[in-house]
Amino acid sequence: MSIQVVGTGAYVPERILSNDELSQMVETSDEWIRQRVGIAERRISVSESAAEMAAKAAERAMEAAGITADELDLIIGATISSDSICPTMSSYVQGLIGAHCPAFDVNSACSGFLYALDTAAAFLARGGYRYALVFGAERLSKILNWQDRSTCVIFGDGAGAFIIAPGEQYLASKLFTQFDNNALDIPNGQGSSPFYEREVGDALVAMSGQETFKFAVRRLAEDVQQLCTEIGITLDDLTWIVPHQANTRIIELCAKRLKQPVEKFYMNIERYGNTSSASVPISFDELARSGKLKKGDLIAMCAFGGGLSSASCILRW
Ligand code: UT7
Repeated sequence: MSIQVVGTGAYVPERILSNDELSQMVETSDEWIRQRVGIAERRISVSESAAEMAAKAAERAMEAAGITADELDLIIGATISSDSICPTMSSYVQGLIGAHCPAFDVNSACSGFLYALDTAAAFLARGGYRYALVFGAERLSKILNWQDRSTCVIFGDGAGAFIIAPGEQYLASKLFTQFDNNALDIPNGQGSSPFYEREVGDALVAMSGQETFKFAVRRLAEDVQQLCTEIGITLDDLTWIVPHQANTRIIELCAKRLKQPVEKFYMNIERYGNTSSASVPISFDELARSGKLKKGDLIAMCAFGGGLSSASCILRW
């Protein structure tokens, strides 16, 4: 048994942080950020927690699916910027939307949403589950070093959510992990132990951009190609590819490697930057609501991030 997506939703905070405003905080420029990354502006939360953003995205997804929170059997959230370690973000979301089902988080950095979706698909395949809420939500602004221009210009806050049910849309998926904490690292802080003698870095994003860049292009291209081969379709059969929104150049290079028109890749990085685990569901929700998806369309979703990790899947709409 497979799954189908019966509703999607997204939420981004109102506060817009433009490249020009950022240029007054660190030594950067609108031109550099647009050319090297493809971002014009991003959203930053000034008062909402990541869980509150997730709950708003979830409400919109439930409305699209035509269900109430009472009907949910499972909630799985992906995040690297939860408001607390415990309760989990998914527990908060359960409380905020008034659901009564089990809820837990997964963390696979920017690939997290697709890991969560695959996990939920496995639960539904086991039987006994009707509707599951799967979301990615981040308040990355709280874990950025706002003095580090190589990272603070890239990320943004937001949330995206799917309601899924048993169905036949989810044709194939692939998860990949290859340990590397040099390319991307967010330590969890020194902690309070008076006994621990090892140095631990600040709980802030540290990234080797170029290493991550190379991993991203290779994985996006290989993963999507491999999934197509696995289910006996060609890349040309895909109507849309919804990639993690990390850098326009990553997506363009991936398109080139796969010999596919870049127009096939859904992009909104210009408006939101990289929202980590929220990026794929926010993008997919925009695409679904744009009216551009037609019944039967084959859509690939693919992401990569810290771990290092990557995840991808193919849906038949
Ligand atoms: O979702 C998580 C995964 N993360 C990613 O996918 C990120 C992948 N990597 C990237 O997107 C790119 O590597 C970055 C956007 C992070 C950086 O772009 P780059 O073309 O790889 O730049 P670079 O790190 O090679 O730096 C080139 C120059 C350096 O100056 P020098 O040494 O050539 O004088 C940097 O100091 O650009 C400088 N630089 C900046 N200049 C203006 C770095 N950040 C900035 C900045 N504004 N914000």
